Amino acid sequence: MSSQLSTLLSEQRRFPPTPEFAEGAHATQALYDEAVRDRLAFWAEQARTLTWIHPWQSVLEWTAPHARWFSGGQLNVAANCVDRHLSGARRNKAAIIWEGEPGDRRVYTYWELGQEVGRCASALKGLGVQKGDRVAIYLPMIPEAAIAMLACARIGAVHSVVFGGFSAEALRDRINDAECTVLITADGGYRRGSVLPLKRFADEALTDCPSIRHVVVVRRRPGGEGDEAFATMREGRDHWWHRLLEQAAPTCPAEPMDAEDMLFILYTSGTTGKPKGIVHTTGGYLTHVAATTKYVFDLKDEDVFWCTADIGWVTGHSYVVYGPLANGATVMMYEGAPDWPERDRFWKICARYGVTVLYTAPTAIRAFMKWGPEHPARHDLSQLRLLGSVGEPINPEAWIWYREHIGGNRCPIVDTWWQTETGGIMITPLPGVVTTKPGSATIPFPGISAKLVDVHGTVLEKGGGFLVLTEPWPGMLRTIYGDDARYRETYWSRFPGRYFAGDGAKVDDDGYWWILGRVDDVLNVAGHRIGTMEVESALVDHPAVAEAAVVGKAHDLKGQAIAAFVTLKDGHAATAEMRDDLKEHVAKKIGAIARPDDIFFSADLPKTRSGKIMRRLLRDIAEGRALGDTTTLADPGVVARLREMYEAEES
Ligand code: WT7
Repeated sequence: MSSQLSTLLSEQRRFPPTPEFAEGAHATQALYDEAVRDRLAFWAEQARTLTWIHPWQSVLEWTAPHARWFSGGQLNVAANCVDRHLSGARRNKAAIIWEGEPGDRRVYTYWELGQEVGRCASALKGLGVQKGDRVAIYLPMIPEAAIAMLACARIGAVHSVVFGGFSAEALRDRINDAECTVLITADGGYRRGSVLPLKRFADEALTDCPSIRHVVVVRRRPGGEGDEAFATMREGRDHWWHRLLEQAAPTCPAEPMDAEDMLFILYTSGTTGKPKGIVHTTGGYLTHVAATTKYVFDLKDEDVFWCTADIGWVTGHSYVVYGPLANGATVMMYEGAPDWPERDRFWKICARYGVTVLYTAPTAIRAFMKWGPEHPARHDLSQLRLLGSVGEPINPEAWIWYREHIGGNRCPIVDTWWQTETGGIMITPLPGVVTTKPGSATIPFPGISAKLVDVHGTVLEKGGGFLVLTEPWPGMLRTIYGDDARYRETYWSRFPGRYFAGDGAKVDDDGYWWILGRVDDVLNVAGHRIGTMEVESALVDHPAVAEAAVVGKAHDLKGQAIAAFVTLKDGHAATAEMRDDLKEHVAKKIGAIARPDDIFFSADLPKTRSGKIMRRLLRDIAEGRALGDTTTLADPGVVARLREMYEAEES
C-alpha cells in the first residue's frame, strides 16, 4: 500500500481528451461554466429533461441538514424510465440485454419492459401493496430485479434491495428495520456454477419477520417449481412470480409522486454494528442520476452500457437501473462471476453484445491484471469507447492496464467517486473535457461543491485532508430511515454544516482530487463496504468469544482484507478449528463478503488508557510490520496518518 501510495502521489502522466472524442461528446466546458454561474439553475435545467406531472415551485429548500429539491413537483420514476420512451423510436429498442451465468439470454425492448413492469405493479397492488409501503427485494442479477424495482416505483412503494450475497440474518434485520410487507426473492441464483438458494435463506429470515404478509418467488431454475430442495412454498403467503404476473394486467397507472416522496431505502455499513437505512427520494435523485449518466458516460442512443455492479449496491440502483433507463439507453446485465466458466467471460460478453461503455471496479481490474492480458486479447473489444471505474481508489498501474488492455489505448477512463449516501456520481472527469491523471477522480461534477478540510474543519486549498461537501446536491440522502438523529450525528456533526464523507483525500496543484480511502472504521473489501463494528459484533455473538477487534489490512486484489483479533473466553482453546468456526460464524451472521481473511488469537487487546482499542498497532501486526516500527516503510502512508489524526481528534 505504501509504495502504491507514493507512486500515486508522484503520478505525472496526463491524458487529455482527443479532439475526435471531444467533438461528439455531450459534455462541454460550458456545462461547468453554467453551473458555476448559477448552481441551482444548472440543476433545474437537468431536472427539466425529465417528464414531470406537475412542475416544482422551488428548486431547493435547505434547512441544514435537510434538503427539499424540486418541492411541489410531481413525477413518477417508472414513467420516466419506461413510459416516455414508448411513443417514439425507442419503443422497440433493447432496454435490457441480459445473460445468465449458465449462458441463457433474454432481451427486453422498452415496450416489453413496460409490459412486465405493469404486470408486476398490478400484481403487487393485488397483494395489497400501497403507496409508501416497503417492499424487500432479495434477488440475483436477473431482469426481474430491475422490473421489481420499477414496479415499486410505479405504484409508489418504497423498495429496499438486499444484496443476494447477504445472509438470512442480514436480510431479516433489514426487513424488520423497514417493516417491509412484501418480499420478492427467487428460488436461486447462479454463481460460479452453483446455485445460491435465496428462497431457503429467505425462509430462514422470515421465521422472525412479523411485518411480511406475502413472498413473491421468481423461478430462476429450470423446472424449479415443485423442486422442494430450493423452494418450499407456504400456502397463502408465497406466490410464484410467473403465475402472479400471468394473471395481472400489463397496464397499471403510474402513481403521481411528490418530488420528495421516498423512492428507496438502501442499507449500508457505518461505524456502529447496525447498518444504516439510507433514504433516497424521487425528483432530486432521478435528476442527479439521469444527468450524471448522460454526461459522465457520454451515453448515446446507440450505446450498450454495461455497469457490472450488482443491483444490491447503490451502483446497481443508479447506473444499472435508474440513470441509464431514464436516458432511454440499452443496458447490459450479467448474472454471474467474471471467471465463469473461463476468465474471459466479461470480454466474451463485451464482444458478443457490442458493449460500448463499461463501468466496473478496481478490484475486478486488478483480478483481470493478475489473470493476464491474453484473456481480453482473445476477443474483439473494438466497440468499447469509454471505460469507468468506481468503488475504491484505483492504483495508477491498474488504471494504465485498463486503458491499454481493455480500452486499446483509445477509450477515455472516468474514475468516479461517490457513495451510497450521495446517490450519484460526485467527483469525476467529464469525458471530452477533462484531462485525466491515472489514479485521480479529477474534479467535481458541475453543480457539486467539494472541499478539503483539516482536522479542525479549516478549508485547505491543496495537500492532504478530509473530503467534505459544502452544498446540498439533488441526489443526496435525505435521512437515515427511522433515525434522523443518527443522520445528523453521522454526517453533519464532525464538521458542522458540512457533509463529511468519511474519506481522506489529497488535492494537487491543479485542484485534482486523489481519494485515499476511509478514515473512519469502515472497510472497503473488494469495493464492498463493511463496518469493523459489524464484524466485531458478529464475532462477540459467538459463545466462545470474549472480545474482538477488527481492522483492514492491505490486500493486492481486494484493496482491503479483514483481519480480526479475538480474545477467547476461559475454557476455549485457540485452535485451527476455532478459527474456521469463527470465520463461518461471521459469514453466517453477515454474508460471505464479511468473512475475515485472518483471525489472530490474543490474550488481551491493546488499548489506550481511555479504553480505546489501538487499531494502528493491530493494523501493523496484521500487515506483518514489526510492532510500532514504521522505519521499514518507504512511506508510512498518507491514509494511515490521516486516520491517526482523525482518530486522535475523535477520542
Ligand atoms: C466509499 C463509498 C459509490 C459506489 C460504490 C461504493 C469509496 C467509491 C471511489 C473512487 C476512491 C472510492 C470511498 C467511498 N469509493 N468510489 N472512485 N475512488 N474511493 O459505494 O459502498 O457507499 O462506498 O467507496 O471510500 O466513501 P459505498
